[in-house]
Order: sequence, then C-alpha cells, then structure tokens
Amino acid sequence: SPLTCILEERRGPVGLITLNRPKALNALSPTLVRELVQEVKRFDADPEIGAIVVTGSGDKAFAAGADIKAMQPLSYMDMHKARLFGELDELSSVRTPIIAAVNGFALGGGCELAMTCDFILAADTAKFGQPEIKLGTIPGLGGTQRFTRAVGKSRAMELVLTGDQMSAEEARERGLVARVVPAADLLDDALKTAGKIAAQSQPIVAMAKTCVNVAFETSLAEGLRFERAIFYSTFATHDQKAGMAAFAAKEKPNFKNE
Ligand code: HXC
Repeated sequence: SPLTCILEERRGPVGLITLNRPKALNALSPTLVRELVQEVKRFDADPEIGAIVVTGSGDKAFAAGADIKAMQPLSYMDMHKARLFGELDELSSVRTPIIAAVNGFALGGGCELAMTCDFILAADTAKFGQPEIKLGTIPGLGGTQRFTRAVGKSRAMELVLTGDQMSAEEARERGLVARVVPAADLLDDALKTAGKIAAQSQPIVAMAKTCVNVAFETSLAEGLRFERAIFYSTFATHDQKAGMAAFAAKEKPNFKNE
C-alpha cells in the first residue's frame, strides 16, 4: 500500500526517510510509526543501503510528539491493547546506523524517536523537550530513560517536570546531539555523514554500533570483554584484511561487506 505519512527515497547507498505530516508538525500517528518502522526495516534488509537518515518535512518540526488529538479519547485498555507505538522498539534490532536529522521541534515522542536513532544531528533552530507533563501524562517512549542518560539527572528532571524546551546548542553541550549545523545545511550534512558510514564495511559498522550500544546496557568490565571479543572477530573478515592492506599500499580500501 502507498505510504501516506512518510516519504522515502534512496540517495545512493543512503536511505532517506522524511516524516511527512507537515500540517500537524509531523506528529506521530499509528500509521506514521508503522510506515516508518516498515521502511527502516526494508532499508536494513537492502544490501545496497549502508546508512539511514530520518528527518522531518518542512522547516519547523522534526516531530512535535505523538498526535495529541488522536490520543485524547483513548482509554487505558485502548493503549494497552494497541501497545501504542510499541513497534518503535523494533528499531533497536536494526543493524544499519540511523541518523536523526532534527530540523526543528523534537518534542515528546519526537524527541524520543530522535533518541532512539543512533545519533542526532541538529539544526541550529532545533528544540528538544518532553512536554507531556503539560498534557497530564508522562513520556512513554523512553523520554524519562534516554533523556536522563543523555543530559544528566538534574536537567532531565527539570525538563520532564516543567515541560520546558532545550536549545540545540545546549543539547550539543550536554551530549544529546552529536553536532549542530546551520538549518539550511542540515540535510546535506546528514546525507554526507551517512555517506561516510555507508562507505565503510557494513558488517564491521554493525559490530561497532553494537559495541557502543552495549556501553549503555552493561558494566564497564563486561562491556570491555564484549568489545575485545568482537574486535578479535573482525580479524576473521575479508574487510579487515582489505582495509589494512589498502592502508599499507596507500590506496582506498575496497570493502566487500565480507
Ligand atoms: C497533534 C499537533 C501536535 C501534536 C502540533 N500540532 N503538535 N497536532 N499532535 N503533538 C498541530 C497543532 O494543533 C496545529 O494544528 C499545527 O500542528 C501547528 O501547531 P501550532 O501549535 O499552531 O504551532 P506553534 O504555535 O508554532 O507551536 C508549536 C509547538 C506546539 C510548540 C510545537 O504545536 C506544541 O506545543 N505542540 C505539542 C507538543 C507536545 O506536547 N508534544 C508531546 C505530545 S505527547 P492546527 O490544526 O491548529 O493548525 C507525546 C507522548 C509520546 O508525544 C508517548 C507515546 C507512547
């Protein structure tokens, strides 16, 4: 069936997904989330695609959260049975790196979606926040967990309890976003960054991504053991041989994703 809430296109080895409900500031609806997860998984299964960029249409919002008007009448049982937006959990089993290019408001579920991606590049005009408290609810897609890990307890607590927003520059200082770029350059920069990743060996990229993620889920000693085992295992690949041989020969490596 045709996509109605997102746009997807290929830019060489990069898959680009644009959240596309501009009249609702790209608010997440069940259809938008279903389409997003479906297309991310499709790119992940495509051997030609080495990185994915997710951004928002228009210059105002990445996503202003879950669709408040659609959520307002839902009962506890509606939420429980529909597992509202639970499909987003499936993004954590995607091996292809996903970059969030945050081009404006990333609020509530929009901030949570950005934090679910592997890293965030932000326009200088971007604003981050978890304003759910002002709606009589709380974050439900990781906002109390990932935001707290990213910006620290005190500032996360303040923003979750007041619903205030954080500027792109502060988000960068605190480590929530990797880099801030002028709004007009954001998409080009994100595609270029994704292209750099897509030019590496895909299986090795997936291993590196897994290791960084493990840092958030385990003790240091356990994480170091995990990293060492994966590091040794890269020496069983063609691409480690090719990469190091190319360095020695002062050539560009020809990775085969093997
Ligand atoms: C539905 C939304 C929306 C949203 C904006 N719109 N955000 N519709 N859900 N989350 C709609 C507005 O109703 C309006 O529609 C149009 O988009 C433009 O928005 P305005 O408010 O007119 O723009 P502006 O005055 O510039 O304010 C921008 C804003 C504000 C600060 C981003 O829109 C805002 O506060 N939005 C809600 C942010 C929020 O609370 N997010 C958290 C949602 S809860 P009309 O038809 O009037 O033109 C959540 C929970 C996730 O995300 C957990 C799920 C499990």
